[in-house]
Parts: sequence; structure tokens; C-alpha cells
Amino acid sequence: MSNLIEQAKKTAAYTAVDENFPAHAKVVGIGSGSTVVYVAERIGQLANKAEFVCIPTGFQSKNLIIDNGLNLGTIEQYPELDIAFDGADEVDTLLNLIKGGGACLFQEKLVAVASKKFIAVADFRKKSPQYLGTNWTQGVPIEVVPCAWVKVSADLKRMGAETVTLREGGKAKAGPVVTDNNNFLLDAHFGEIKNVSALHSEIKALVGVVETGLFVNMTDKVYYGNEDGSFECVQ
Ligand code: A5P
Repeated sequence: MSNLIEQAKKTAAYTAVDENFPAHAKVVGIGSGSTVVYVAERIGQLANKAEFVCIPTGFQSKNLIIDNGLNLGTIEQYPELDIAFDGADEVDTLLNLIKGGGACLFQEKLVAVASKKFIAVADFRKKSPQYLGTNWTQGVPIEVVPCAWVKVSADLKRMGAETVTLREGGKAKAGPVVTDNNNFLLDAHFGEIKNVSALHSEIKALVGVVETGLFVNMTDKVYYGNEDGSFECVQ
């Protein structure tokens, strides 16, 4: 990863925290992925960090909270959050997102919907010129109950998916990736997605689907870090 991309992620994350962190926040959601590392770092620098609790969206996120000296809580203890920050794999012009490149989409969505404000942070490569499915070429991540993956794959193909792949661990693991919720992941290609809400609803209705990586109408603001060190906020 080039230094410029890392710098862009850091710029987006630090600016998003600096411009949005509520002065009297009590419960804060921390997403997953490589950009959120800088969100947790910035929140960890706040003088009042003993005064709020952070809710993770998976294993990596939990460790980020601990490593930055933040108070760790669970969504069961704190089902209402003041704000949550998370990364994105792609963002369309209406601020719908594809998420789940890091396999954490279910808990990410749980935390996002429970938050009063949901802020996405990303480098410039994540910004689609219009539709989802343009820059992100790995398909829509879909979390499925393990024994349902063959049936759901067939359903998705009948729905028009060009390809459906069971996500596997590659060299790191022989066999399927298992999510933090002990499920499998399918990546389904639908080309450019013109009606994100309809596609999400159709996939979600399939028996065996736990959640899709399509985040529809959930995002309040997106902060993009640019290669030249500047940032852009879209809301
Ligand atoms: C995790 O499952 C994902 O939704 C991530 O939030 C997303 O992939 C963004 O990750 P990066 O910040 O590493 O690009």
C-alpha cells in the first residue's frame, strides 16, 4: 500500500473524528478495516476518553478499542449509540455503501443502525462516479448460514448474479472464511447496481441470508481522503 493511500485514509479518519465527535458522547461505534485503525487512533487521543464506551463491530475492532486505551462495551449492554465511524468498500453518489470486504458486515450494520449518526471514512478510490458495483469489483458480500450457502448461491444466480463465489481463505486458510458470527460469505456480482434498495431487499428475503453488505440510506456523511493530502466531506 502506497504511503499516499495510507495518508489519505488517515486524513479522512482524523478529520471525521475531529469534525463530528460529540462533546458529550457516551457510546461510540468503531467499525472494521484498515481506515478505521486511524479512527480508533484519533479517538484514543481524546482527553476525555475515560468518559465514553466504545462498541466493536468484530474481532479486529475489539482489539483496536483495547489497544487505544478505550473503554470496551457490547451492543447488548449499549443498544443505543451516539455515533459510529466505519470504512467502506465503495460509496455511491447517494451515500449508499458496499461493505464486507473484511467480512465484518453483519456487526457493522448492527452498530450502524443503532447509532444516531453514522460516518463513513474512506480514501478517494472508494468513491463511485455514480452506482455501486463500479469501482468495487469483488461483488456484493452476503453473509449466509453455512448449510444454506449452496441454496443461496443458486437463488442469487436465478436473481441475475453473473457469478457467485464462496469466499475462501486462500493461502491463510484452506476452506471458507468463517465470520465473527460463525457464518459463511458469498460474493455476488450484479454489475452496476442501479436500485440498491431493491437488490438489498430481494437478497435479504432469501432463506439462509443473514445480511447483505449493501448499506442503504444509513450514512450521514462520508469523508474521503485525497492523494494530495486534502479531504472531501459529502453529506
Ligand atoms: C469490513 O468488513 C469492511 O466493511 C470494511 O469496513 C471495509 O472493507 C473498508 O475497509 P478498508 O478501510 O480496509 O478499505
